[in-house]
Amino acid sequence: MIAFKHVSKIYPNGIHGLHNINLHIGEGEFVVIVGLSGAGKSTFLQSINRLHEISEGEIFINNKSITKAKGNELYRIRRDIGMIFQNFNLVHRSTVMRNVLSGRVGYHSTLRMILGLFPKKDKQLAMEALRRVNIPEKASMRADQLSGGQQQRVSIARALAQEPKLILADEPVASLDPMMTGQVMDDLLRINQELNMTMVVNLHDIEIARKYANRIIGLKAGKVVFDGKADEATDEAFAEIYGKTDKTSERMGMEQYERIENTANG
Ligand SMILES: Nc1ncnc2c1ncn2[C@@H]1O[C@H](COP(=O)(O)OP(=O)(O)OP(=O)(O)O)[C@@H](O)[C@H]1O
Ligand SMILES: [Mg+2]
Repeated sequence: MIAFKHVSKIYPNGIHGLHNINLHIGEGEFVVIVGLSGAGKSTFLQSINRLHEISEGEIFINNKSITKAKGNELYRIRRDIGMIFQNFNLVHRSTVMRNVLSGRVGYHSTLRMILGLFPKKDKQLAMEALRRVNIPEKASMRADQLSGGQQQRVSIARALAQEPKLILADEPVASLDPMMTGQVMDDLLRINQELNMTMVVNLHDIEIARKYANRIIGLKAGKVVFDGKADEATDEAFAEIYGKTDKTSERMGMEQYERIENTANG
């Protein structure tokens, strides 16, 4: 589904966002990317749909190079990739339905979309997507009248309406309280299981990563320092991913940090 071949990303200021990444993500996997702030999680995720251009190497989506794709081909590859952001990226003053329907724009002419003429089939798809995230009754409400968790569910529904082959989520629960976090992560897991949807999710909370992932990839300074099943991601493995910087404790919460610190020190 996704293949990274010798992928590096160097920002114009000389920072290595990614350093020689080689890996493959298969169809139906639920992969969680973890690492400290600045480890390269967003760079990794946004390289997959080319929101970030890589400097070296090549990325393949279903055996097609997104790195080399141009014009229509790039457009079609991107249409297969749903994206979910930390801050939801909704149009606040539009209805929930309109927001979800915007997932369909890649399938229609520009004129039709300017006029807002979505076919009936799209509206059915959008309702189905809202049902899948358990908020069909919110369809006619304004997006900004919903809670944060509900807004994130709208953004998941929008991604689903796009009928993607994979979904990327960059810190989807970082702005949510613990209860909303559980609901949104449960939605993602259910979609992964029911639709065999490939999921790549950036998270900084390692307990949530362990709970939901099939596979955890740990990044540190742009390099893969861990790649294994969730149950292989022991406290020792996390100590390696998170290193021992002063910032680690802030990032992880003191309790989690102390536990790992103790493990690392034997
Ligand atoms: N546009 C940019 N220009 C220059 N450097 C950048 C840019 N974006 C990111 N970086 C740098 O690349 C590295 C990786 O950043 P990235 O945003 O991928 O980290 P992250 O793991 O997503 O962090 P966070 O948990 O804070 O979101 C960092 O050192 C960052 O400062
Ligand atoms: Mg990030």
